[in-house]
Amino acid sequence: MILKKLKLTNFRNYLDFEEGFHHLKTIIIGQNAQGKSNILEAINILATSQSDRAEKDSNLVYWNKEYALIFANIKTKEDDLDIALQINSTGRRKLKMNGVAKKAPQADLVGNFFSVMFSCDDLYLIKGSPSIRRNWIDNVLFQLDTKYHKALQNYQKSVVQKNALLKKAQEGNLSRKALKEQLDIWNEQILNFGTEVIYTRINFIADLQPIAKDFQDRISKQTEDLDMIYKSTIQNLALSTQLSAISTETEKQETGDKKQETEDKKIMPHASCLNPQSLRESFKQALDKSFDEELARGQSVIGPHRDDLIFLINKKEAKSFASQGQQRSFVLSIKLAELQIIENRKGEIPVLLLDDVFAELDESRQDFLLHNLPKNIQIFLTTTHLSDVQKEFLQEAQILEVEAGKIKVKHL
Ligand SMILES: Nc1ncnc2c1ncn2[C@@H]1O[C@H](COP(=O)(O)OP(=O)(O)O)[C@@H](O)[C@H]1O
Ligand SMILES: [Mg+2]
Repeated sequence: MILKKLKLTNFRNYLDFEEGFHHLKTIIIGQNAQGKSNILEAINILATSQSDRAEKDSNLVYWNKEYALIFANIKTKEDDLDIALQINSTGRRKLKMNGVAKKAPQADLVGNFFSVMFSCDDLYLIKGSPSIRRNWIDNVLFQLDTKYHKALQNYQKSVVQKNALLKKAQEGNLSRKALKEQLDIWNEQILNFGTEVIYTRINFIADLQPIAKDFQDRISKQTEDLDMIYKSTIQNLALSTQLSAISTETEKQETGDKKQETEDKKIMPHASCLNPQSLRESFKQALDKSFDEELARGQSVIGPHRDDLIFLINKKEAKSFASQGQQRSFVLSIKLAELQIIENRKGEIPVLLLDDVFAELDESRQDFLLHNLPKNIQIFLTTTHLSDVQKEFLQEAQILEVEAGKIKVKHL
């Protein structure tokens, strides 16, 4: 899939940007804070419907303007596609595809254009908080599964409603009986949508894991064994019986690390032995059990909004044990796997967005990345220094120099 043309109006610091991309490789160069990442952000929004860094839509609109417009002309395997996304500073959006207005600007957008963003911030994928890992999974799944986007949105809305109710009860404005009745309504929604969210995530991780493991094997010359485990807040008997086979397996591999073993009790690994019904049942039991805790804390504590993903290197948690170099390789393997999964499931090669990563990756990792990409992949790369970019890459690239939201120089 190729992004042939991008037009930005009032998007971040671009009042008016228009560019055609004639090479598979585009380098966006400029000093800090000139608008390099903003271009990649706009492209990525077309794929995931969200920004990976803006807190709200109004941040994306040029200061004091009413709306921003991202227009793209895309070449897919089948045909050409025009996407026009209008983002209002009020938070409302409008979407047109090939000139036809769509009803659901978020849900109708995802699933048409695919991208993989790899930025230096992705190093926090390993060390950062669970929300960073959840956001990453969510953003990939938005592209892969349109139903997932709706399920997560509905799930999150229900959690907000439930939290409001729990707060009200906590402040003593609701009897325990009235609370239970109203909670049941939200818990029902939470169970339905939440089960779908967890189930889809576990299946995704199960698909991604062997691919990432293989990349990590190769990049580390068979010295680093990568593992990924979906760790859920749902933990109860029904599930643990079902998963006992897997838990025992994991524990055996844990080389007697006691703390890790206890942690494993909460771990819910791969999809093959899970079905949505039993997952829902376990989720329900966990919710019932946590009623008192949720009431005491005034918030919903069980469910996919609190789940995490554990990365292991050589059976140890990467968060605490991986060196900087190992983390870099790890993220690289994950990103390459992400790319491959999108290609496998969608039959289109996503556009790769490399935001400032070459400064962080040494030459051998850069080589590994570039030599393990599909042929004909389109790449957008930002950098402050061309000297960080490999010669081979430079020679084949279209170069745009940006300054304060304007294209200053172009080298084709
Ligand atoms: N909504 C906005 N309106 C106008 N300018 C913005 C907006 N959001 C960010 N900017 C500006 O964009 C610049 C940062 O762009 P960015 O693409 O992150 O820079 P970099 O070139 O370092 O990647 C900053 O100068 C910031 O002030
Ligand atoms: Mg940047």
